[in-house]
Amino acid sequence: MRTFIALCLLACVAGISAQCECKTMKWAVCDGTPCTCTLLVDAGTKQPVNCTTLIPKCFLMKAEMYRARNNLATRSIGGKPVETAFVDNDGIYDPECEANGQFKAVQCNGTETCWCVNSAGVRRSDKGDKNIKCEPVETYWVRLELKHKEAATALDETKLRTAVQNAVLDRYNIPKDFVREVEYDKDSRLIVVDVKKNIGQDRDIDLSRMAYYMEKDVKILPIFKSQTPLELSVEGNKVGLENILVYYVDEKAPTFTMKSLTGGVIAVIVVVVLAVVIGLLVLFFLRKRERAQFQKTQQREMAPMSQ
Ligand SMILES: *[C@@H]1O[C@H](CO)[C@@H](O)[C@H](O)[C@H]1NC(C)=O
Ligand SMILES: *[C@@H]1O[C@H](CO)[C@@H](O)[C@H](O)[C@H]1NC(C)=O
Repeated sequence: MRTFIALCLLACVAGISAQCECKTMKWAVCDGTPCTCTLLVDAGTKQPVNCTTLIPKCFLMKAEMYRARNNLATRSIGGKPVETAFVDNDGIYDPECEANGQFKAVQCNGTETCWCVNSAGVRRSDKGDKNIKCEPVETYWVRLELKHKEAATALDETKLRTAVQNAVLDRYNIPKDFVREVEYDKDSRLIVVDVKKNIGQDRDIDLSRMAYYMEKDVKILPIFKSQTPLELSVEGNKVGLENILVYYVDEKAPTFTMKSLTGGVIAVIVVVVLAVVIGLLVLFFLRKRERAQFQKTQQREMAPMSQ
């Protein structure tokens, strides 16, 4: 009887400690009754987190920067849906977060250079100084370009749509009707998914968290406690993903200048300018030689006359 009670107690303790864990963040530390969890976002800064939902991206980025600074393990096709869509070319920085986990509209990465970000923390302006003026702007639409791994059988577009909707709901808690559009190209294995809120509405749905968790799921490792990989279940067949590109569309167009001047275009411009300069120099020297020769012939013609 005594062993039975002891066993019961053990099971109980095991049960409680198993419950006190953070399902949505593997780096969070949980303790106490009631169970509370915190995430280390800076030396000595323990950010309390609510592990019944995805953790705000701003807190996750801070934690990621902190881990990168301290050498703790972290990380390392298609087209724009609309002209105003943009990708995150800057990558990780150390963000300033509001108490509720939202990104502050101005971000400086701890330097004198600052810029404006959207609700997903992605830069939407040119870089400026500390006095830059930014307003909060919501990202209401993300386009996910997913490349799936080789599958045994060809995938059906309609079935794929259902699979994506199920995965996004189960894993990231985004209601199915926000998955508006799913397109599929079987030759490139590309699945293009548009997850879209209504402009000015659905403020309780945070697309940036979904996108961040998903990027980790596809590119590195899940940041969920459970390391179950993200897979699409198409008619009972599990399909893994091997690449992801995220486009962001804000309620207001971004204010970048020269945003079409990507590296390639700049290289072309430099080459053209160099060619023009070299061309002009060649012309200049040719002219100079011609003139010199002309003067020589003139001198020769004039010489006999003066005699
Ligand atoms: C955690 O999030 C859930 C779901 O959004 C919410 O119902 C709950 O009140 C939150 N808990 C705390 C302690 O904020
Ligand atoms: C932010 O600063 C860190 C170094 O502290 C640097 O590695 C990173 O590239 C910076 N990010 C941006 C977007 O400026």
